[in-house]
Amino acid sequence: MKFQGKVAMITGASVGIGRAVALCLAEQGADLVLLDINTELLQNVGEEAKKFGNRVLTYECDVSNEERVNEVVSDAIKCFGKVDILVNNAALWRDRSSFAESSSDLWKRYMDVNVMGVYYCTRAVIGNMLENGYGRIINVASVAGVYGNANMVHYSATKGAIITMTTALAKEVAEKGILINSVSPGSVSPSQNEDMDFFKPSDLSYMGRTGTDRENANLILFLASDEANYISGQNIQIDGCRKKL
Ligand SMILES: NC(=O)c1ccc[n+]([C@@H]2O[C@H](COP(=O)([O-])OP(=O)(O)OC[C@H]3O[C@@H](n4cnc5c(N)ncnc54)[C@H](O)[C@@H]3O)[C@@H](O)[C@H]2O)c1
Repeated sequence: MKFQGKVAMITGASVGIGRAVALCLAEQGADLVLLDINTELLQNVGEEAKKFGNRVLTYECDVSNEERVNEVVSDAIKCFGKVDILVNNAALWRDRSSFAESSSDLWKRYMDVNVMGVYYCTRAVIGNMLENGYGRIINVASVAGVYGNANMVHYSATKGAIITMTTALAKEVAEKGILINSVSPGSVSPSQNEDMDFFKPSDLSYMGRTGTDRENANLILFLASDEANYISGQNIQIDGCRKKL
């Protein structure tokens, strides 16, 4: 029970990587604060997580709504007294558009959720982490933020931004017990699938397959654990040896 006594907040916890992180952390003893805009699916994950016997709070929360994020974090800290681990996972990524045809509305929506959302959630918890002299923050970025994806410039730019946000903030708080890293998945299996171990063939990786939600969760849990106490400011790719398109 590696995470017994720890409180972990996960955004976008209803499906996919976020759900896998929530369930794996629950299995390892963590109390959970789960946020998503999809409340119905979030309730299901909350119920699944409670089966491991931990305390679980679920909140309908759009991470791009600063006021709501602050309200949720302050309520969670009132209930649990602290937040030890933050996994900034919620993001938009499914829209494709050539750069020439991309609208400023699309760009603003992506920036609001994928960049400002990470900023709001991180800023909301960091005061508590600084007081406690302990924090683990994992930002879910993407290989798109490293290599750039054609027809997803709007998305790639947001993930590049949070990779740099990770490196810069890690330097500010490294001496204060707060470690911040990002993970950059390649292609992950369809995230609404019930099975966390599901994958399918993919010619985007030299391994010839997509990654699973559980494989991504395993890396995030490692970075959230005290086994990773000397790692901060890194972006770790989890992509089956990606072909750099
Ligand atoms: N699936 C992939 O192939 C892949 C590849 C690289 C990176 N990623 C990254 O992994 C993370 C998770 O992706 P996924 O594919 O597992 O899940 P997903 O995209 O299917 O789901 C994301 C979750 O976030 C929630 N969400 C969306 N907007 C939100 C908002 N404004 N506020 C709160 N919650 C919100 C959704 O309701 C959903 O539950 C994302 O950051 C994504 O960019 C995914």
